[in-house]
Amino acid sequence: KEIVVSGIRPTGYLHLGNYFGAIRNYIRMQEDFNCYFFVADWHSLTTHPDPKDLPGNVMRVLAENIASGLDPEKVSLYVQSDIPEIAELYLLMNMLAYVGELEKVPTFKDKVRLQPQNVNAGLLTYPVLMSVDILIQRAVKVPVGKDQGQHLEMARNFAQRFNHRYGDLFPEPEAFNYGDSLVRIPSLDGNGKMSKSENELATLYLADEDDKIINKIKKAKTDSGSGEPGSPIPDSVQNLLDLMKLVCTPDVVSFYEEAWKNTGTIRFGDLKKQLGEDMVKFISPIREKAKDLQRDTDYLKKIMKAGAEKARANAAQTLQQAKKLIGINYY
Ligand code: TYM
Repeated sequence: KEIVVSGIRPTGYLHLGNYFGAIRNYIRMQEDFNCYFFVADWHSLTTHPDPKDLPGNVMRVLAENIASGLDPEKVSLYVQSDIPEIAELYLLMNMLAYVGELEKVPTFKDKVRLQPQNVNAGLLTYPVLMSVDILIQRAVKVPVGKDQGQHLEMARNFAQRFNHRYGDLFPEPEAFNYGDSLVRIPSLDGNGKMSKSENELATLYLADEDDKIINKIKKAKTDSGSGEPGSPIPDSVQNLLDLMKLVCTPDVVSFYEEAWKNTGTIRFGDLKKQLGEDMVKFISPIREKAKDLQRDTDYLKKIMKAGAEKARANAAQTLQQAKKLIGINYY
Protein backbone atom coordinates (compact mmCIF):
# COMPACT_ATOMS: atom_id res chain seq x y z
CA LYS A 1 0.00 0.00 0.00
CA GLU A 2 1.15 3.52 -0.76
CA ILE A 3 2.17 5.61 2.23
CA VAL A 4 0.27 8.78 3.13
CA VAL A 5 1.23 11.46 5.65
CA SER A 6 -0.53 14.62 6.77
CA GLY A 7 -0.55 16.90 9.81
CA ILE A 8 -2.60 19.62 11.45
CA ARG A 9 -1.27 22.25 13.86
CA PRO A 10 -2.96 22.41 17.29
CA THR A 11 -3.39 26.18 17.11
CA GLY A 12 -7.13 26.45 17.73
CA TYR A 13 -10.48 24.94 16.90
CA LEU A 14 -10.63 23.05 13.62
CA HIS A 15 -12.76 24.70 10.97
CA LEU A 16 -14.42 23.86 7.67
CA GLY A 17 -11.21 24.63 5.78
CA ASN A 18 -9.36 21.97 7.73
CA TYR A 19 -12.21 19.55 7.17
CA PHE A 20 -12.72 20.01 3.44
CA GLY A 21 -9.06 20.74 2.62
CA ALA A 22 -7.63 17.85 4.60
CA ILE A 23 -9.75 15.67 6.89
CA ARG A 24 -12.33 14.69 4.28
CA ASN A 25 -9.50 13.20 2.24
CA TYR A 26 -8.03 11.44 5.28
CA ILE A 27 -11.31 9.63 5.82
CA ARG A 28 -11.42 8.28 2.30
CA MET A 29 -7.73 7.50 2.15
CA GLN A 30 -7.75 5.42 5.32
CA GLU A 31 -9.54 2.66 3.39
CA ASP A 32 -6.95 2.33 0.63
CA PHE A 33 -3.59 3.57 1.89
CA ASN A 34 -1.11 3.11 4.70
CA CYS A 35 -1.89 6.34 6.55
CA TYR A 36 0.06 8.39 9.06
CA PHE A 37 -1.86 11.38 10.41
CA PHE A 38 -0.48 13.56 13.16
CA VAL A 39 -0.85 16.66 15.30
CA ALA A 40 1.97 19.05 14.39
CA ASP A 41 2.69 20.39 17.89
CA TRP A 42 6.29 21.41 17.14
CA HIS A 43 5.08 23.45 14.19
CA SER A 44 2.64 25.32 16.42
CA LEU A 45 5.48 26.56 18.65
CA THR A 46 6.60 29.13 16.07
CA THR A 47 3.87 31.42 17.41
CA HIS A 48 4.69 30.81 21.12
CA PRO A 49 1.39 29.41 22.39
CA ASP A 50 0.70 29.45 26.14
CA PRO A 51 2.15 26.20 27.58
CA LYS A 52 -0.98 25.55 29.59
CA ASP A 53 -3.13 25.55 26.43
CA LEU A 54 -1.05 23.05 24.48
CA PRO A 55 -2.21 19.69 25.95
CA GLY A 56 -5.88 20.60 25.59
CA ASN A 57 -5.38 21.80 22.02
CA VAL A 58 -3.57 18.61 21.05
CA MET A 59 -6.33 16.45 22.57
CA ARG A 60 -9.00 18.44 20.79
CA VAL A 61 -7.40 18.03 17.37
CA LEU A 62 -7.22 14.27 17.99
CA ALA A 63 -10.85 14.18 19.15
CA GLU A 64 -12.08 16.26 16.20
CA ASN A 65 -10.26 14.01 13.73
CA ILE A 66 -11.80 10.88 15.22
CA ALA A 67 -15.23 12.52 15.48
CA SER A 68 -14.99 13.38 11.77
CA GLY A 69 -14.63 9.71 10.94
CA LEU A 70 -10.97 8.84 11.24
CA ASP A 71 -10.56 5.31 12.56
CA PRO A 72 -7.50 4.89 14.82
CA GLU A 73 -7.60 1.17 14.07
CA LYS A 74 -6.98 1.87 10.39
CA VAL A 75 -4.44 4.71 10.53
CA SER A 76 -1.66 5.68 12.86
CA LEU A 77 -2.76 8.81 14.62
CA TYR A 78 0.02 10.43 16.62
CA VAL A 79 1.62 13.59 17.92
CA GLN A 80 4.73 14.90 16.19
CA SER A 81 6.77 15.41 19.38
CA ASP A 82 6.38 11.71 20.21
CA ILE A 83 8.63 10.94 17.24
CA PRO A 84 12.10 12.25 18.18
CA GLU A 85 13.48 10.72 14.97
CA ILE A 86 11.82 13.62 13.16
CA ALA A 87 13.94 16.13 15.09
CA GLU A 88 17.13 14.28 14.21
CA LEU A 89 16.37 14.04 10.50
CA TYR A 90 15.32 17.70 10.57
CA LEU A 91 18.79 18.62 11.85
CA LEU A 92 20.38 16.63 9.04
CA MET A 93 18.06 18.02 6.36
CA ASN A 94 18.74 21.61 7.45
CA MET A 95 22.24 21.17 6.05
CA LEU A 96 20.70 20.78 2.59
CA ALA A 97 18.27 23.70 2.88
CA TYR A 98 19.45 27.11 1.72
CA VAL A 99 18.59 30.31 3.56
CA GLY A 100 17.92 32.05 0.25
CA GLU A 101 15.24 29.60 -0.84
CA LEU A 102 13.64 29.54 2.61
CA GLU A 103 13.41 33.33 2.73
CA LYS A 104 11.49 33.29 -0.54
CA VAL A 105 8.69 31.00 0.69
CA PRO A 106 5.38 32.95 0.61
CA THR A 107 4.19 31.60 3.99
CA PHE A 108 7.46 32.84 5.56
CA LYS A 109 7.08 36.26 3.97
CA ASP A 110 3.49 36.42 5.31
CA LYS A 111 4.70 35.66 8.82
CA VAL A 112 7.38 38.33 8.61
CA ARG A 113 4.61 40.76 7.78
CA LEU A 114 2.16 39.47 10.42
CA GLN A 115 4.53 38.92 13.34
CA PRO A 116 7.57 41.16 12.73
CA GLN A 117 8.40 41.03 16.46
CA ASN A 118 8.88 37.23 16.30
CA VAL A 119 10.68 36.20 13.12
CA ASN A 120 12.34 33.18 14.70
CA ALA A 121 14.56 30.62 12.97
CA GLY A 122 11.84 27.99 13.40
CA LEU A 123 9.63 29.98 11.06
CA LEU A 124 12.35 30.11 8.45
CA THR A 125 12.99 26.36 8.58
CA TYR A 126 9.31 25.45 8.91
CA PRO A 127 9.22 23.90 5.42
CA VAL A 128 12.23 21.74 6.30
CA LEU A 129 10.49 20.31 9.35
CA MET A 130 7.32 19.76 7.36
CA SER A 131 9.26 18.01 4.59
CA VAL A 132 10.86 15.73 7.15
CA ASP A 133 7.44 14.83 8.64
CA ILE A 134 6.59 13.50 5.21
CA LEU A 135 9.90 12.09 4.02
CA ILE A 136 10.69 10.21 7.22
CA GLN A 137 7.66 7.97 6.59
CA ARG A 138 8.58 7.77 2.87
CA ALA A 139 5.13 9.02 1.94
CA VAL A 140 4.10 9.51 -1.68
CA LYS A 141 0.74 11.23 -1.13
CA VAL A 142 0.02 14.15 1.16
CA PRO A 143 -3.62 15.26 1.50
CA VAL A 144 -3.56 19.03 2.17
CA GLY A 145 -5.37 22.22 1.24
CA LYS A 146 -4.19 24.59 -1.44
CA ASP A 147 -2.22 26.76 1.02
CA GLN A 148 0.26 23.90 1.51
CA GLY A 149 1.03 23.30 -2.16
CA GLN A 150 4.26 25.29 -2.11
CA HIS A 151 5.51 23.39 0.93
CA LEU A 152 5.02 20.13 -0.93
CA GLU A 153 7.11 21.43 -3.79
CA MET A 154 9.89 22.09 -1.29
CA ALA A 155 9.53 18.58 0.13
CA ARG A 156 10.15 17.23 -3.38
CA ASN A 157 13.19 19.48 -3.74
CA PHE A 158 14.70 18.30 -0.48
CA ALA A 159 14.02 14.67 -1.35
CA GLN A 160 15.74 15.10 -4.71
CA ARG A 161 18.64 16.97 -3.23
CA PHE A 162 19.26 14.32 -0.60
CA ASN A 163 18.90 11.46 -3.07
CA HIS A 164 21.27 13.16 -5.48
CA ARG A 165 23.97 13.85 -2.91
CA TYR A 166 23.81 10.72 -0.78
CA GLY A 167 21.90 8.07 -2.71
CA ASP A 168 18.31 7.08 -3.32
CA LEU A 169 16.23 7.05 -0.19
CA PHE A 170 13.18 9.29 -0.42
CA PRO A 171 10.27 9.01 -2.86
CA GLU A 172 9.01 12.41 -4.06
CA PRO A 173 5.70 13.22 -2.34
CA GLU A 174 2.74 14.87 -4.07
CA ALA A 175 0.00 17.02 -2.59
CA PHE A 176 -3.25 15.10 -2.93
CA ASN A 177 -6.97 15.73 -3.16
CA TYR A 178 -9.76 13.46 -4.42
CA GLY A 179 -11.07 15.68 -7.18
CA ASP A 180 -8.71 17.44 -9.51
CA SER A 181 -7.19 20.39 -7.68
CA LEU A 182 -6.33 21.30 -4.11
CA VAL A 183 -9.11 22.88 -2.10
CA ARG A 184 -9.32 26.39 -0.68
CA ILE A 185 -12.33 27.13 1.51
CA PRO A 186 -13.09 30.86 1.56
CA SER A 187 -13.71 32.92 4.66
CA LEU A 188 -17.33 34.05 5.21
CA ASP A 189 -16.39 37.73 5.05
CA GLY A 190 -14.95 37.42 1.57
CA ASN A 191 -11.42 38.19 2.80
CA GLY A 192 -9.15 35.34 1.79
CA LYS A 193 -9.29 31.78 3.05
CA MET A 194 -10.93 30.47 6.18
CA SER A 195 -8.30 30.18 8.91
CA LYS A 196 -7.93 29.43 12.60
CA SER A 197 -6.59 32.84 13.49
CA GLU A 198 -8.57 35.21 11.26
CA ASN A 199 -11.89 36.83 12.05
CA GLU A 200 -13.74 34.34 14.25
CA LEU A 201 -17.14 35.42 12.90
CA ALA A 202 -16.04 34.56 9.37
CA THR A 203 -14.90 31.05 10.29
CA LEU A 204 -17.14 28.03 10.81
CA TYR A 205 -15.66 25.76 13.47
CA LEU A 206 -16.46 22.09 13.92
CA ALA A 207 -17.15 23.03 17.58
CA ASP A 208 -19.70 25.77 16.80
CA GLU A 209 -23.16 25.44 18.37
CA ASP A 210 -26.17 25.42 16.03
CA ASP A 211 -27.27 29.03 16.64
CA LYS A 212 -23.73 30.24 16.09
CA ILE A 213 -23.51 28.45 12.74
CA ILE A 214 -26.80 29.95 11.60
CA ASN A 215 -25.82 33.44 12.74
CA LYS A 216 -22.43 33.37 11.09
CA ILE A 217 -23.99 32.30 7.80
CA LYS A 218 -26.64 35.01 8.12
CA LYS A 219 -23.88 37.60 8.42
CA ALA A 220 -21.80 36.22 5.53
CA LYS A 221 -20.88 38.73 2.86
CA THR A 222 -23.13 38.84 -0.23
CA ASP A 223 -22.40 42.26 -1.85
CA SER A 224 -25.44 44.18 -3.01
CA GLY A 225 -26.17 40.98 -4.86
CA SER A 226 -27.62 41.64 -8.26
CA GLY A 227 -26.33 41.97 -11.79
CA GLU A 228 -27.62 41.54 -15.33
CA PRO A 229 -29.06 38.10 -16.08
CA GLY A 230 -26.16 35.91 -17.19
CA SER A 231 -23.51 38.25 -15.75
CA PRO A 232 -20.53 36.65 -13.98
CA ILE A 233 -21.20 35.57 -10.40
CA PRO A 234 -19.43 37.90 -7.93
CA ASP A 235 -16.79 36.31 -5.68
CA SER A 236 -18.80 36.66 -2.48
CA VAL A 237 -21.81 34.92 -4.05
CA GLN A 238 -19.60 32.23 -5.55
CA ASN A 239 -18.13 31.68 -2.08
CA LEU A 240 -21.57 30.94 -0.68
CA LEU A 241 -22.38 28.63 -3.58
CA ASP A 242 -19.08 26.86 -2.98
CA LEU A 243 -19.98 26.35 0.67
CA MET A 244 -23.38 25.02 -0.43
CA LYS A 245 -21.67 22.49 -2.67
CA LEU A 246 -19.98 21.04 0.40
CA VAL A 247 -23.08 20.38 2.47
CA CYS A 248 -26.23 20.79 0.35
CA THR A 249 -27.67 18.42 -2.25
CA PRO A 250 -26.71 19.16 -5.89
CA ASP A 251 -30.27 20.10 -6.87
CA VAL A 252 -30.32 22.83 -4.22
CA VAL A 253 -27.04 24.24 -5.49
CA SER A 254 -28.16 24.23 -9.11
CA PHE A 255 -31.45 25.90 -8.14
CA TYR A 256 -29.52 28.95 -6.94
CA GLU A 257 -27.02 28.85 -9.81
CA GLU A 258 -29.91 28.85 -12.26
CA ALA A 259 -31.58 31.71 -10.40
CA TRP A 260 -28.45 33.80 -10.84
CA LYS A 261 -28.10 32.86 -14.48
CA ASN A 262 -31.71 33.68 -15.35
CA THR A 263 -32.38 36.75 -13.23
CA GLY A 264 -28.98 38.12 -12.15
CA THR A 265 -29.93 37.85 -8.52
CA ILE A 266 -30.60 35.33 -5.78
CA ARG A 267 -32.88 35.40 -2.74
CA PHE A 268 -30.04 35.54 -0.29
CA GLY A 269 -32.30 35.14 2.74
CA ASP A 270 -33.54 31.80 1.40
CA LEU A 271 -30.09 30.69 0.35
CA LYS A 272 -28.63 31.43 3.76
CA LYS A 273 -31.48 29.71 5.55
CA GLN A 274 -30.94 26.55 3.48
CA LEU A 275 -27.17 26.70 3.85
CA GLY A 276 -27.51 27.26 7.61
CA GLU A 277 -29.79 24.26 8.04
CA ASP A 278 -27.61 21.93 6.01
CA MET A 279 -24.47 23.19 7.72
CA VAL A 280 -25.98 22.46 11.13
CA LYS A 281 -26.86 18.96 9.96
CA PHE A 282 -23.28 18.49 8.88
CA ILE A 283 -21.43 20.00 11.84
CA SER A 284 -23.58 19.08 14.86
CA PRO A 285 -22.90 15.31 14.93
CA ILE A 286 -19.15 15.92 14.62
CA ARG A 287 -19.27 18.54 17.38
CA GLU A 288 -21.17 16.29 19.79
CA LYS A 289 -18.95 13.28 19.14
CA ALA A 290 -15.83 15.39 19.63
CA LYS A 291 -17.16 16.69 22.94
CA ASP A 292 -17.64 13.13 24.22
CA LEU A 293 -14.22 12.04 23.05
CA GLN A 294 -12.51 15.01 24.66
CA ARG A 295 -13.83 13.95 28.04
CA ASP A 296 -12.16 10.57 27.59
CA THR A 297 -8.53 11.65 27.75
CA ASP A 298 -7.41 8.15 28.75
CA TYR A 299 -8.74 6.83 25.46
CA LEU A 300 -7.09 9.64 23.48
CA LYS A 301 -3.75 9.03 25.20
CA LYS A 302 -3.98 5.34 24.40
CA ILE A 303 -4.63 6.15 20.75
CA MET A 304 -1.74 8.60 20.43
CA LYS A 305 0.64 6.24 22.16
CA ALA A 306 -0.23 3.34 19.87
CA GLY A 307 -0.05 5.63 16.82
CA ALA A 308 3.35 6.92 17.88
CA GLU A 309 4.72 3.41 18.28
CA LYS A 310 3.92 2.51 14.71
CA ALA A 311 5.06 5.84 13.30
CA ARG A 312 8.31 5.68 15.28
CA ALA A 313 9.16 2.22 14.05
CA ASN A 314 8.84 3.30 10.44
CA ALA A 315 10.63 6.62 11.03
CA ALA A 316 13.53 4.94 12.82
CA GLN A 317 14.24 2.78 9.78
CA THR A 318 14.39 5.77 7.46
CA LEU A 319 16.58 7.76 9.85
CA GLN A 320 18.95 4.84 10.18
CA GLN A 321 19.35 4.62 6.43
CA ALA A 322 19.74 8.38 6.04
CA LYS A 323 22.55 8.47 8.60
CA LYS A 324 24.32 5.59 6.96
CA LEU A 325 24.16 7.27 3.57
CA ILE A 326 25.50 10.52 5.04
CA GLY A 327 28.40 8.60 6.59
CA ILE A 328 27.32 8.67 10.22
CA ASN A 329 28.18 5.03 10.45
CA TYR A 330 30.98 4.51 12.96
CA TYR A 331 30.41 1.26 14.78
P1 TYM B 1 -2.72 23.77 9.19
O1 TYM B 1 -2.73 23.29 10.60
O2 TYM B 1 -2.69 25.23 8.94
O3 TYM B 1 -4.00 23.19 8.43
C1 TYM B 1 -4.33 21.82 8.45
C2 TYM B 1 -4.86 21.39 7.08
O4 TYM B 1 -6.02 22.16 6.74
C3 TYM B 1 -5.85 22.74 5.45
N1 TYM B 1 -6.53 24.05 5.41
C4 TYM B 1 -7.36 24.44 4.43
N2 TYM B 1 -7.77 23.81 3.30
C5 TYM B 1 -8.65 24.46 2.51
N3 TYM B 1 -9.13 25.71 2.79
C6 TYM B 1 -8.76 26.37 3.89
N4 TYM B 1 -9.28 27.58 4.16
C7 TYM B 1 -7.82 25.74 4.77
N5 TYM B 1 -7.23 26.10 5.94
C8 TYM B 1 -6.44 25.05 6.31
C9 TYM B 1 -4.35 22.90 5.29
O5 TYM B 1 -4.00 22.99 3.92
C10 TYM B 1 -3.85 21.63 5.94
O6 TYM B 1 -3.91 20.55 5.05
N6 TYM B 1 2.00 23.06 7.71
C11 TYM B 1 0.74 22.39 7.95
C12 TYM B 1 0.83 21.28 8.98
C13 TYM B 1 1.86 20.25 8.66
C14 TYM B 1 1.79 19.25 7.64
C15 TYM B 1 2.98 18.50 7.75
C16 TYM B 1 0.85 18.94 6.67
C17 TYM B 1 3.02 20.07 9.32
N7 TYM B 1 3.72 19.03 8.78
C18 TYM B 1 3.24 17.41 6.89
C19 TYM B 1 1.11 17.86 5.82
C20 TYM B 1 2.31 17.12 5.93
C21 TYM B 1 -0.25 23.42 8.47
O7 TYM B 1 0.11 24.42 9.01
O8 TYM B 1 -1.56 23.05 8.37
